[in-house]
Amino acid sequence: MEKDIKQILLSAEQIADKVKELGEKITRDYAGKQLLVVGILKGSNMFMSDLIRQINMPMQMDFMIVSSYGNATESTGVVKIIKDIEEGIKDKHVLIVEDIIDSGLTLKYLKQILDTRNPASVKLCTLVDKPARRKEKVAVDYVGFELPDEFIVGYGIDYAEYYRNLPYIAVLKPEVYEK
Ligand code: IMP
Ligand code: MG
Repeated sequence: MEKDIKQILLSAEQIADKVKELGEKITRDYAGKQLLVVGILKGSNMFMSDLIRQINMPMQMDFMIVSSYGNATESTGVVKIIKDIEEGIKDKHVLIVEDIIDSGLTLKYLKQILDTRNPASVKLCTLVDKPARRKEKVAVDYVGFELPDEFIVGYGIDYAEYYRNLPYIAVLKPEVYEK
C-alpha cells in the first residue's frame, strides 16, 4: 500500500490532535442538550469513532448510508437513502459527521431531508473541507482541515473502496489512477 502513496498530507498525529479539539468544542457547544451524532458511511467511520470518544457528555449515535444518483465521480445532488437513522429525531440536536465536503450537494440534500423531521437543530461536521469545488452553499459548522482540490485517501476515505485503512490522509501516485 505504501508504495502507492505520493505524499502524506495529514499524519495520524495531526488528525488525532484535530479530532480532540473538535470533540472538546462539540462538548462545550452541546452541553445540556440531547445530542444525536449521525455518521455518514462508509467514509466517516474512522473519524466518527475517534470523534465520539472525545465528546465528554451523554450522547447517542447512529449511521446513515446514502448514495448519490448519477455517475461515480461527480455527485448530482439527488440523494437516495440506503440506510436511515433508526429512531425519530424530533426535538433532538442532530450532528451529521462526514469525511469530506466537496461539491456540497450530498449534504445540502441530506440536511433538507432531516429538517423536515422537526429536529431541534441539524449541524454539520466534516473532517475535510474542499471549498474550491463547492457548488452548493452549505453552512459547515465544524471543519477539521481545509484542503485544496486534490483527490485524497486514508483514515476512512477510499479510492475504489481501497486505502480506507491507512492511518493518515494522503495523495496517491498518478499511476495508481491510470491502472
Ligand atoms: P459532495 O460534497 O456531494 O460532492 O460529496 C462528497 C463525497 O464525495 C465525500 O463524502 C466522499 O465520499 C467523496 N469524495 C470527495 N472528494 C474525495 C476525495 O478526495 N477522495 C475520496 N472521496 C472523495
Ligand atoms: Mg462520503
